[in-house]
Amino acid sequence: MRKILLKSAKTGMVLGKTIYSASGNALLAVGVALTPMFINRLNELGVPAVYVRDGLCDDIEIPEIISELTRVDAQKAVKDVFEQCIRSDKVNFNIVRNIANNLADEALSNREQPINLTDIRTYDDYNYGHSVNGALLAIMTGIALGYNQLQLRDLAVGVLLHDIGKVFINKELLNKPGKLTTKEFEEVKKHSAKGFEILKTHEEINLLTAHVAFQHHEKYDGSGYPRGLKGKDIHEYARIAALADVYDALTTERVYRKAYTPFQATQVLIDCSNSHFDPTLLKAFIQNIAVYPVGSIVTLTSGEIGVVIKTRREKTKRPLVRILTDKNKKRVSSMEEVDLTEKTELQVIKLLSEDDGNIPLIPRT
Ligand SMILES: [Fe+2]
Repeated sequence: MRKILLKSAKTGMVLGKTIYSASGNALLAVGVALTPMFINRLNELGVPAVYVRDGLCDDIEIPEIISELTRVDAQKAVKDVFEQCIRSDKVNFNIVRNIANNLADEALSNREQPINLTDIRTYDDYNYGHSVNGALLAIMTGIALGYNQLQLRDLAVGVLLHDIGKVFINKELLNKPGKLTTKEFEEVKKHSAKGFEILKTHEEINLLTAHVAFQHHEKYDGSGYPRGLKGKDIHEYARIAALADVYDALTTERVYRKAYTPFQATQVLIDCSNSHFDPTLLKAFIQNIAVYPVGSIVTLTSGEIGVVIKTRREKTKRPLVRILTDKNKKRVSSMEEVDLTEKTELQVIKLLSEDDGNIPLIPRT
């Protein structure tokens, strides 16, 4: 299967992955053939992209660090505690601890695999999916740093709940396209302290975990908020959370801008190394990211175009690629596979966006 923008979806294409709402309900199930009505409905719901099987890369499965069920459960749990928090001072966070344990267990058993963030979210459920992706990115970084299960759990709980203070911030302000005024930004900034206030009053939440909510907008050079903490004064969990938070935000489509590709987003993080992020943690973080995720269409230095069929941790810029067209953009039928870890003279020079992913560019003759 491969991922395409919804606007490139055509009637008859078969859905490769189920699309879920934030509440875990299936909006459209895997295997359904798209119709104009379905495409319209997905458009209304703000679904930016879909996985499809269209005869081109149907045998390619996108490897996941966690199962679809675990992801849906995690998203539901986060939504549930965020909503409880609006209604009451006393929230049962045990469910989030259990979810964090499950995420850590599954991530540990798939630790050799880089992360292909493959979930597709509607604009409305941004927060919940963002928390789950962030937790996964943080856990993989923790694993790379040699964290034990307990550390992974506390880190994951912290990242799952890092933005819980946002339930007390005006929603329109949070979703406002474009720049916030100084006054508006001051209001949004309050969410870190508010989150900390909530979490620290619950005994099932480790205090270090609560500090992830408090410190996730601090920056390595001291220019962050709310306290302007610097370097190692920011707890390591919060320094990891900052990386996961920014990376996932960049790679997610928002109402006001398109998503960055994993490659572009990692470049942004690298550009902010030392200023925003801890450079050592950044290294551990990046080695888990599939910069050219499975199912993406890439151009090689040879001029050939291919689809990524496998990626490996720590060698994420050198995937295994199946060649689709020759250098003249003519379709090839050989199904040749090129392993860029072996063919070191070749490199990926361009990740075709999902916009121009309508291969074949020139039909096979
Ligand atoms: Fe935040």
